[in-house]
Amino acid sequence: MAAKKERLDRVLVLNCAGSRKQVGQLIRSGQVTVNGLVVRRAEQKVDPDCDQICVKGTQLPMGRYLYIMMNKPEGVLSASRDPRAMTVVDLLPEKWRRPGMFPAGRLDKDTTGFLILTDDGAFAHRMLAPRSHVDKVYEAELDKPVTREDQDRFAKGMDLGDFISLPAEMEPVTPDGYVAQVILHEGKFHQVKRMFENCGKIVLSLRRIRIGVVEIDKNLAPGECREMTKEECEQLFLHDFC
Ligand code: URA
Repeated sequence: MAAKKERLDRVLVLNCAGSRKQVGQLIRSGQVTVNGLVVRRAEQKVDPDCDQICVKGTQLPMGRYLYIMMNKPEGVLSASRDPRAMTVVDLLPEKWRRPGMFPAGRLDKDTTGFLILTDDGAFAHRMLAPRSHVDKVYEAELDKPVTREDQDRFAKGMDLGDFISLPAEMEPVTPDGYVAQVILHEGKFHQVKRMFENCGKIVLSLRRIRIGVVEIDKNLAPGECREMTKEECEQLFLHDFC
């Protein structure tokens, strides 16, 4: 990937150093250095792959962490390790199976599709926090066709007993209504299945197809993975610059 210079404040936000306003304050107050020199201009251009950027004396993680896109197959646990079952970390090729790798979020054992594995805890935390607005998009196959009323119930948010879901978008993707797309703005346990169950429908299969604006790579067969590009990692949080 060609080296690309970017604004210092943008690089800091993308590295979870704070909101745009917070990183602006950090820069102005002299707490950010680039290659050992204090920089007080938020718009200063830096190369995050080459420049050594420190916030309050701590070097930014850019380039130090791994971000892997996996097409999770059925029957594998979204966990780092399990004494009895195969996990998504077990599926990683040897070169990426470094200590600290874990799935950023969970898909059920029978759910397939887009899963990110990383050793960057701050990235995962940010990706999963509802306030980051990184939507998760699913495609569900159902035992009955979805209805207009179901769509309205998703849109209003549902009382699922132990929690009330945030409003979610749901729409049929096949003319017969047996396959529907769901956009969630949070990620509670079994959420898609429970929301459909609440509408009297059973999810026969579930696949995550998109996280934020990043779609799963269609060239990945089930169980395969690849490193995410820097652009893909950044695109997950692009709304910070909207
Ligand atoms: N919702 C579910 O019900 N299951 C998943 O794996 C993800 C979202």
